[in-house]
This record gives sequence, C-alpha cells and structure tokens, in this order.
Amino acid sequence: MTENPQPRAVFLVGFMGAGKTSVGQALARRLQWQFVDLDQRIELQAGVTISEIFVRAGEEAFRRLETAALRSLLAELCEGSPAVVALGGGAPLREENAVLLAACRAPQVFLDAPFEVVRQRCGATVAARPLFNEQEPARMLYEARRPQYLKAQFRVDTAARSVEQAAAEIARVLALEPTREDQ
Ligand code: S3P
Repeated sequence: MTENPQPRAVFLVGFMGAGKTSVGQALARRLQWQFVDLDQRIELQAGVTISEIFVRAGEEAFRRLETAALRSLLAELCEGSPAVVALGGGAPLREENAVLLAACRAPQVFLDAPFEVVRQRCGATVAARPLFNEQEPARMLYEARRPQYLKAQFRVDTAARSVEQAAAEIARVLALEPTREDQ
C-alpha cells in the first residue's frame, strides 16, 4: 500500500476575522512552508487597497480580480514550494473559484468562530473590510455563508484557541509535518 503524500497546499477559508491570516502565518512557520494571502496579492497586482477597489469599481469588479488572482496563484502552486493560503472570506463561495479549488485537490480548512468573536476581532479593521462596515448586514452575511464554509473537508474552531494552538490543531488534523530540506 502506498502512503498518502503530504498535500502541497492548504487553503484556509472562513469569515472575516476567523483568523485566516494570523493562523495561516503561524501554520506556515511551523511547517516551513510559504504563506500566501490572496487579498494581499490582489492589492499588489491592482496597486490599490481592497477598500479602494470596492469604492472605485464595486464588489463585482473585486470578485473578478479575486478569481484572476486565484487562477494565477493555483498555476504557481503546481510548481513552487508548498504553501499555506489564506483566502478572502468570499473567495471559496463563488462557483468559478470553487471549481478551481476542487481541481487543485488540496485540503480546505474552515476556521470557525461565533459572529461575536469575529466582530470583536475585526473591530479595529472594519474600515479595511468593506463588507464589515455595518454590523447587522455583516451578521446576515455570516449566517448565510456559514453553511457553505461547513462544506470544507475540515473545521477548526478558533474561538477558544490561540493562534499557535489553532495552527497546531490544523497540522494535527491534516497530519502535516515540517518540510524536509530534500522535498
Ligand atoms: C471579503 C473578505 C475580505 C476581502 C474582501 C471581501 C468577503 O478578506 O477579501 O473585503 O467577502 O468576506 P478577509 O476575509 O481576509 O477579511
């Protein structure tokens, strides 16, 4: 029987404030993998912040940039070193992106936390998150999206865990080990 090889990428999904970036960075450090933040790539490629994209061009334009960034990232991941990828909260929900991610066959981990927790975490940074400007619409979005996030293969609760504990839990459930020099 052949052993299951380690995946070459792990995708972190979940609502804004779930901890995708901070936990993703901690997991990447632990595994000695690269860390990629899809939102950051979009900003670098567009040369403006996500908030500015929403204001100047609207959400649909942002979603098109997001899909283009995901497509180019996935092409790079086939060749490059293994990566932990933090996806923006809406990225896995668009059908086109879901198809791209499924074809990549890397595990998706839903970072889960109650709405009150993500709201508090986003407190200081709501200005950078156009879809978290107002609490009640954000709560409705959270509730509408959660069943979709639950379709990810794995779920890790980040509410009662520190960033390091959440990263350790992901490594444990996926049986991930640090990459050796020769890999
Ligand atoms: C979004 C989440 C944001 C960013 C954009 C839209 C969403 O990323 O992609 O503001 O639709 O949930 P984070 O989840 O990293 O905050």
